[in-house]
Order: sequence, then C-alpha cells, then structure tokens
Amino acid sequence: MSSLAVKILSSHMVDGSMKKGEMMSIKIDQTLTQDATGTMAYLQMEAMEVDKVKTDLSVSYVDHNTLQVGFENADDHRYLQSVAMRHGVVFSRAGNGICHQVHLERFGVPGKTLLGSDSHTPTGGALGMLAIGAGGLDVALAMAGMAFWLPAPEVVKVHLTGELSPWVAAKDVILELLRRLSCKGGVGRIFEYSGPGLACLSVPERGTITNMGAELGATTSLFPSDEETLRFLRSQGREADYVPLCADDDAVYDDVIELDLSSLEPMIALPHMPDQVVPVREVAGFPVDQVFIGSCTNSSYLDLMKAASILDGKTVAEGTSLCVAPGSRQVMTAIAENHGLAQLIRSGARILECACGPCVGVGQAPCSGGVSLRTSNRNFLGRSGTADGKVHLVSVETAAASALTGVITDPRTLGEPRKIAVPERFEIDDRMVIWPPEDRSSVEVLRGPNIKPLPVFPPMGDVLKGEVLLKVGDNITTDHIMPAGAKVLPLRSNIPAISKHCYATVDPSFPERAVAAGGGVIVGGRNYGQGSSREHAALAPQYLGIKAVIALSYARIHRQNLINSGILPLLFQSQEDYERVKQGEVVTIDNLMNQIDGERISATFDLSGDMTLINDLSKRQRDTIKAGGTLNVARAALMD
Ligand code: F3S
Repeated sequence: MSSLAVKILSSHMVDGSMKKGEMMSIKIDQTLTQDATGTMAYLQMEAMEVDKVKTDLSVSYVDHNTLQVGFENADDHRYLQSVAMRHGVVFSRAGNGICHQVHLERFGVPGKTLLGSDSHTPTGGALGMLAIGAGGLDVALAMAGMAFWLPAPEVVKVHLTGELSPWVAAKDVILELLRRLSCKGGVGRIFEYSGPGLACLSVPERGTITNMGAELGATTSLFPSDEETLRFLRSQGREADYVPLCADDDAVYDDVIELDLSSLEPMIALPHMPDQVVPVREVAGFPVDQVFIGSCTNSSYLDLMKAASILDGKTVAEGTSLCVAPGSRQVMTAIAENHGLAQLIRSGARILECACGPCVGVGQAPCSGGVSLRTSNRNFLGRSGTADGKVHLVSVETAAASALTGVITDPRTLGEPRKIAVPERFEIDDRMVIWPPEDRSSVEVLRGPNIKPLPVFPPMGDVLKGEVLLKVGDNITTDHIMPAGAKVLPLRSNIPAISKHCYATVDPSFPERAVAAGGGVIVGGRNYGQGSSREHAALAPQYLGIKAVIALSYARIHRQNLINSGILPLLFQSQEDYERVKQGEVVTIDNLMNQIDGERISATFDLSGDMTLINDLSKRQRDTIKAGGTLNVARAALMD
C-alpha cells in the first residue's frame, strides 16, 4: 500500500523517521550542480577535504552565466572543470545545455535519488526519480557521502484523467495546479502523478510539470516509470537504465487532487508571481514587447518543434522580439537537421545559446515596463533584468502564437495544430561531457582572481544582540535577497563582493548599514525566502553579520540554507507580534545556547518589549547553529 514516493524514500532511508513533520535522511545516488551555485558547492567540498565524490554519479553543468563579457565567468568555468576532474565529477561544458534538460536526456535513472543545487532539480521526477533541490552545501555534503536530511513529506496523489485538447499543453496542467493551490500549496509535500491521463504525456512534457512543482513550493514531484519512460530512454540509447516503477494499487496518500485534462484550456501567469494564473482568453489582445521560448521548463525537442511549426512560413510581429534558447546541444542539433531551426530563423526568431539566458536575467532584458511572455517558470519582479518588466508565464503554443500577432493570443485561434513526430532515437553525441581521468592526483585546480576562499565564521556566542536592520513583508524571494542577473552572477565565487548587492532591489543601503552596525537581525513575513535554492541568499547575509531571521514562515530550501550558514531562523507566534516589531529597534536573546534547546525562545525588543518566539528546529539543526554552521559540523565529522 505504498506510493512510489514512499517506496523510493524508504529504499534510500538512512536515519530518522518517516512520520510527518519529523526529520529523515536519505542516501543520495546522484548530484547535479550548475555554475551559479556550483562554485560555492565545490569550494565547500574542498574545504571538507573530500578527495573523490562518493555518489554513483555527480555532474557539474555550466548553463547559467555563460556570457563572457569579463574574465570572471570564464575563470569560474575553468575552475569548475578542473575541480570536477580533480574530485571525480563529470563536467558538462558551456554550450552543452541546461542542467535539467541534459540530465533528463543523458543521466537520470528511474528509482534513483538526485540532489541538485538548483531548485528545479525536481524536473528529474519526470523519469520516476526522486529529485530534490537543495543548497550547494547540502549537495557538497552528499558528494562527501553524507545523507541528505529533509522533513518527512506528505505525499499527494494527482490523479489525471481525460487527455489534453489541441493547443493545450503540459504547461497548462501545472499552471492550473498553481492557480488552484498557490505558490505555498506544495510546501512539505511530494506530488505524485497517476491515472489514465498519464498516457498522453511524454517524458519532456512530464518534465515541464515536475519542473514547476518547484513553484508550488513542493519538496518534489514525480511520475511513474512506464512505457513512456522506456520510449524516452530508448530514444537516448539508454533503455538499459529502464526499470518499471509505480505505486501499489492500494497506495495510501495524504491527499488526492483530481484533474481532468480534457477540461483544461491555455493558461497564463500574470506578473509577478507564478500563481497569478488566469485563462489566456481573459487577457487576449494585450500588446507584447518580447517573447522568450526556452528555459529548463520548455526547451525540449518537442517544445521547439511546436514553436517552429507555428512560426513556419510566417513572420514575428513588427513590435515584438522573439528569442529562442534550445535546452540542449542535442535539441539544437536535432532541430537543425530537420529544418525546425531554419523555420525559426526565417520567421525572425533570435536564436540564443543552449543555456538559461533570459530566464535568469542574463541577456535579453525586456524594454522598460515591457510585457514579456516567457515559457520559463518564474516571473518575479526584476528577475528579467528590467526592474519594471512585466513577465507572464505561458506554454510554447501561447508564446509562439503571441509572437506572430504581437498581442497575447489564445493558440486555439490558430486552427488545426500540426502533428510533431519525435525521433525514435536521437543522435547521441556526448563529446561536450568530460569524464574525470583514472589518475586524478596530478590534476591542478585552476583558480582565477575571482575565486575567493570561503570566509570562516566562529560559532555564535551565548547572547544574540542586534538591530532589526530590515523588516520586509510576505513572499520575499531569494531574488530579492540576492539578485541574479549579468552584473551580480559573475561574483558568485566571491562572497565579499557579492554581499554588496544583498537586498539591492529592496533597500540598497542594507549592506552598508549591516556592516556599520556590525550585523543584526532581519524580520520577514510569510513564505520568507521562496524561489531558488540560491545559497548566496544566506551566505551574503551571513557575511554581513546577520545572526537571525525572524519570520512568520519560511520556504524550505532557504530555511535550510540559513541553518547551514549558522543563521538562526525563528518564527513569530502571530501576525500581531510580527506587526509590533519595528525596523531599527534592538533585539536581545540571552542565554541562547540553553534557550536554543527549547521550542520557545524569550527575546526582548527595546521598543516593542518582551516577546516569545518559536524555535521549530530539529535537534540536528540546533546543533548546527551552535557549531556556527554546517561546514563546521561536517569538517569535524569528516576529521573524526
Ligand atoms: Fe536555468 Fe531558469 Fe531553469 S535559470 S535552471 S532555466 S529556472
């Protein structure tokens, strides 16, 4: 009577309990990193003095910041390649594609566990993997052979019936779930898809759904490993990796969501949250300045061929810019060979490198105040690189239709869709994937001037005293805390430099004030730290001396990243308490090393008075805070 999620979790369980709300740890079979988070993960792995990774497979991808307008990115890529070869990690070179698309194509295996330092790692769930996003340090620990700790999740069955109508896509499935459940609807949950509706979804389409499960806040999402999985693996020359996997017929779930695919229509997420979803028809006719087709959500062969078939023989609207980034070199090669690429180019599409690009604000920022329709997964304010850009999230079908008309367009107005045939077997060419040598001992790790050693932090003292340096509202994202984009990302291996951009879009004076005050405390609302797995959103505040965050609730990955960095994440007891606290007042927590072992912590605010805060950390997390962060704990354990 087990769900597939429970089967994989229990077959990998190392310690803890699977009782809801308790902590459990699992063995990690595979890891992935990308360049924006990877340099830090490998610096941390080096700091733990790990000679060779202990996983079955670890892959380092370069896909986020591939623009080389200065030496920094090139230096980072060279460091990543050399450190991978030195420590037994497979390296996917810049140009080979986006980590999640390439991992599906070349490395994902049903039934295995995957931990990735990217929040969209759950894309791998399309293959029946248990794929989880985490901070770079958690991935470094997994590479060092340590188990990954997570709160035992609820498992929710999403029962799919019916089939998608013409012009309705997998993207509309996940947008509909976001409309129903919101960005908080998946916190602490695994979404497991099942039912007769599965049959109309190929693995890349399933990947669109599992990818954006991250926007629901879910721990992960997964599909069974079935005939479609076998077909996909066979197309990759990897049928030997196939193993059929599904839930027991009488599996018990914590919740069930019914979704009739036939009832869906094209959907669109309005600025600036992925759950601001309405039917496309409700906003049809609004002018569109830019369309972007690509990202780890929608950049498969099927996605790009759909776009090519819609644009074939037509021209992109005069006032609209269309850019397209294929998800992998395999996809790019395949659409080049069957003329899909020519159809896109002839239509006026601007073809970009196989990388994240516009999704993470690296190139193709929209015009000021511009409306950008994107097939990506996030539309947070400012993420596009234009502070007031209005990013909408749509399917490939809606994006391509709108690129032709120059206004938001329901693709159902296009007539009959063409049938797209997906190759039974793709050309397999892994020459841009480099495997570590047998003898790694002579490999030199190459560090340019942008690779700075990790700052070292002592454990917290017994008195936590500091000014509330910043008070923010609900739904603060990791993009707010540590913006990405072409200017900031190149500093990702240089904590002192990147910290100067912390909270730049919310309060540019924050870093300077934090340094002047010798550190302090941040106060947040609900869902603090939602968004990416970006570890820098904890490392930068740590560098600036932040000792604690007090919020109404946290996003899972960011909360763990705070703990990993030795920053204490506490909770307010009520909305009223949150409202009482004022920016600028001083909070004191005495006798911290004793208080931290309890579930309530007494604090004194010099203006708001005494307040009881909630401490919901596990024993292990409390010990981590006492030690000054996970790196200190891991080093001690590995040296034992
Ligand atoms: Fe890259 Fe955007 Fe996905 S940054 S990994 S394409 S969410």
